[in-house]
Amino acid sequence: MALILGIESSCDETAAALVTSDRQILAHKLAGQEAHHRPFGGVVPEIAARAHVEALPPLIEAAFAEAGVSLSDVDAIAATAGPGLIGGVMVGLVTAKAMAFAANKPLIAVNHLEGHALSPRLAQPTLEFPYLLLLTSGGHCQLLLVQGVGQYRRLGTTIDDAAGEAFDKTAKLLGLGFPGGPAVEAAARDGDPKAIAFPRPLRGSADPHFSFAGLKSAVVRAVEAGEHQIADLAASFQAAVVDCLIDRTRLALALVPEATALVVAGGVAANQSIRSALMGLADGNGLPFMAPPLWLCTDNAAMIAWAGAERFAAGLTDGLDFVAKARWPLDPEAEAVRGAGVKA
Ligand code: KG4
Ligand code: ZN
Repeated sequence: MALILGIESSCDETAAALVTSDRQILAHKLAGQEAHHRPFGGVVPEIAARAHVEALPPLIEAAFAEAGVSLSDVDAIAATAGPGLIGGVMVGLVTAKAMAFAANKPLIAVNHLEGHALSPRLAQPTLEFPYLLLLTSGGHCQLLLVQGVGQYRRLGTTIDDAAGEAFDKTAKLLGLGFPGGPAVEAAARDGDPKAIAFPRPLRGSADPHFSFAGLKSAVVRAVEAGEHQIADLAASFQAAVVDCLIDRTRLALALVPEATALVVAGGVAANQSIRSALMGLADGNGLPFMAPPLWLCTDNAAMIAWAGAERFAAGLTDGLDFVAKARWPLDPEAEAVRGAGVKA
């Protein structure tokens, strides 16, 4: 059994966790930065990097204290090395490098997207490769065939905004605050999803790519018209996102008959309407549906430690000269798509 320290700092959550190769989460600690960024209505990279510097050392200490272990007990140190806001990524990666050097432990540079992609296997021991993953977060909206550790085939991605970004922008337009996803979901509960016929961009198109920019513009126009209740706007927007995600995921499933399960991960996977629609889609295809628990869907360090554990078991460690990457596609062979997001 291996014990892995995981560190996450690629966006606006600072996190540290201790996870074993047999799926015990000995500690997972997280410090959000919402209060720092709320006045600006979005994440400010420089403020995020500074906040990571302050929050990370005490979080790592707290994780060791909670787990009742020390650095010498750890088998490897895994940190997010990209993609993300580069200042924050560097804070976590440099911390991990310093600890790895001081304690003479291997370093594992983890792709944040791989953290999300493998997180369902931490929660669900029976989940086997290959599975179809809908990875939907604030910076990404992708359909990936997860074939093994480090083996990903990207079937589709967003050609403009990510779904989480669309939720965040809609929340801002509706005056619902930041972060937007949970706020829009809450407002939508009292609204009519059929009140406004928002567009479903790319629905029915031949490749399973996504687009949300046109939907966002339609929300802007509907808000400006001033004829609709906030709850109806939120519910109709959410219904459009659900339809787009389901339509594109249905197409992807048809392209990969080898997939053994449909899995959703990333912050937007916390949304209950999206979860239940995906569950229905999986059911209709005779496939099991899996979604990690909510806390494991949004950014956290347990998923980074777990990706580290999977890489460690496969003999994949990295040198202390590993360079942090702002962009780092999981499937380098997938053709570049215009406007695909940079954060994860
Ligand atoms: O994966 P994540 O924690 O961070 C990265 O983007 O890497 O995802 C955050 C995104 C934000 O855009 C947030 O608004 C969205 O996930 N989100 C949600 C919900 N909870 C978080 N979107 C829709 N419904 C939710 N309940
Ligand atoms: Zn993320």
